[in-house]
Amino acid sequence: MKILILPTVEAVTKHAARRLARQLKRKPHSVLGLATGGTMDRLYAALPAMVAEEGAQIEQMRSFNLDEYVGLSGDHPQSYRHYMATRFGVPLGVDLARMALPCGDAPDPAAEAARYEAAIAEAGGIDLQLLGIGQNGHIGFNEPTSSLRSRTRIKTLTRSTVAANARYFDRPEDVPTRAITMGIATILDAREVLLLATGAAKAEALAAAIEGPLAAASPASALQLHPKATVLCDEDAAAALRLRDYYETVHPGGRDPSFGGPL
Ligand code: GLP
Repeated sequence: MKILILPTVEAVTKHAARRLARQLKRKPHSVLGLATGGTMDRLYAALPAMVAEEGAQIEQMRSFNLDEYVGLSGDHPQSYRHYMATRFGVPLGVDLARMALPCGDAPDPAAEAARYEAAIAEAGGIDLQLLGIGQNGHIGFNEPTSSLRSRTRIKTLTRSTVAANARYFDRPEDVPTRAITMGIATILDAREVLLLATGAAKAEALAAAIEGPLAAASPASALQLHPKATVLCDEDAAAALRLRDYYETVHPGGRDPSFGGPL
C-alpha cells in the first residue's frame, strides 16, 4: 500500500484529480469505479479544470458507482444517481448512460445487486476505483463485519452511518437504512484503488485500515490485500498513523516519483 501524506485537503483533492485525469489520458475508455460523499464533492468540482490541464478525454469513460440507497429512485435529490448526475455527469459532459449505479428502487433489490455485479464483470472490470472511508472504516457501504469476500448485495447501515447521512435529508425518518453496495471482494477486483481520507474524524479509521490487523471489523483494512492501492490523506487524517516517519521517508511531502510530473 502506498501512503501519501499531503499537507492540506486542497492538496489531496488536486492530487486525486490529477491521478484521475491521467488515468483517462492514458486510457480514454477507462472503466472508473466512482464514489459519493463530501470528500468526492471536492474532487469532482476540481475535475473539469484538471481534465483540461492534463489534456484528457473524459467522454469515452464508463463508470460504476460503489453504492445506492435502497428505496430511493434515481430522480430523488438524495439518491446517489442524482448526486453523480449533478456533480459529475452534467458538469463534465459525460453521457449519463455511461454512468452506472445500482437501481435503488428496483422491485427486487437482491436481484438488482446480482445484475450489477455481473455488469461490472461484463464491462471488463474496473480500472481505477475511488474510495472514501467512513468514520467506522466502511468502504462503499460495507459496514464493519462485512465479509471480506463479499460481492454486491444489500447491507443494513449502522446507526452511526445513518446519523452521518442525516445531514443530507430534511427529516431523520427519511434517511435510508439499507443500501445496495459493491462488496469488498468486488472492490478488491479493481485493477487499482485510490482511497481518499481527509479531516480528523477519519484519523482512527484510517490508522486501523492501514496499520491494524486485516479484519472485517475494519472493512477498509481489506485494501492491505490489494496489489495496487494508494491512500491519499491530509495531515489531520494522518494524525493517528504510527509509522508516519516511514511513509514520509518513502514519499517526502506526499510526492510519488513513480507517478511522474507535478504532484
Ligand atoms: C458514505 C459513502 C462512502 C463514503 C462515506 C464518507 O458512507 N457510501 O462511499 O466514503 O460516505 O463520506 P464523506 O466523504 O462525506 O466523509
